[in-house]
Amino acid sequence: MSTHKVGVGRAHAKTILFGEHAVVYGAPAVALPLLDLAVTVRANASGAPDGRVALTDAVTGEQAGSTDRPQQLDPRLHELVRSFLRTTDLGSPAVDLGVDCAIPLGRGLGSSAACARAVVLALADLFDRAADAELVFDLVQAAERVAHGSPSGVDTVATGSPGPIWFQSGATKELAIGIDAVFVVADSGVSSATKTAVDQLRRRFEVEPAAKVRFLQESSRITAAAVEDLTRGRVADLGRRLTDNHEVLRGLELSTVETERLVTAALAAGCAGAKLSGGGLGGCVVALVEQPADVATVTAALREAGATATWTVATERFSG
Ligand code: PMV
Repeated sequence: MSTHKVGVGRAHAKTILFGEHAVVYGAPAVALPLLDLAVTVRANASGAPDGRVALTDAVTGEQAGSTDRPQQLDPRLHELVRSFLRTTDLGSPAVDLGVDCAIPLGRGLGSSAACARAVVLALADLFDRAADAELVFDLVQAAERVAHGSPSGVDTVATGSPGPIWFQSGATKELAIGIDAVFVVADSGVSSATKTAVDQLRRRFEVEPAAKVRFLQESSRITAAAVEDLTRGRVADLGRRLTDNHEVLRGLELSTVETERLVTAALAAGCAGAKLSGGGLGGCVVALVEQPADVATVTAALREAGATATWTVATERFSG
């Protein structure tokens, strides 16, 4: 098949507010999209006779490049393209994909799920196939399984969601937001593989089954209460829940010197609460700031404490 059309797919980053790791075992989680931190994929049917799938970094033009650009070295994206073509009965056309990914890899921001989602959407657009939510979920989850082993699916959904979501065992609800505040996400600059953190916890729970039960109860309790705070507009309570959730994750040795420094600095700068976000062992922290005037102070404190990048998400974006 040959066409001059360019298929375009886009997906965004996410940060987990509550329930990471517990969500792998069927407990609920809450995630917030970072709509402005995104990946865009452009797909062309190249017409090459060998059915070749080429993945190129749209920014550098490199076929294989730096480790911060996940699509380059990631064979699962080739397999994802083949799965899409197989599932949609398209045969084996040669495809060129240009991937422009601004989401740093290994920071708990959903980079791998977002890249996979954008690839599927670009192919669906190129070949005029309906990209219904179930097809996209199944294909992205299959790609995530290669990367993570046993992904809960929260990244797969949150990287395509226009607003905050509650997620549990494949079920998703969009959350109505009653608070007026700002989340600040800060990158510790330390990359870590989600799989490493998930495997580490699984091994710990194998020898300490009671710790697993406690963790799931605690995380579920915090997440349920946080959903109430989020929808009813209780910023101070929501902040405390973030810090409580951080303490639970820290107790499981998922925090690092770098993420501890960031959480401590954000709290000292007057935020309502802060925690590590995502798999941990590096990656990002998220802090909740009640007054817009304090965002600059908290962001400066995070930078001072070693954050290599920060992003802000104002909840007003999701209200009304
Ligand atoms: O991709 P990360 O680091 O945000 O991890 C996703 C959250 C986990 O709960 C740790 C894993 C999962 O599959 O839900």
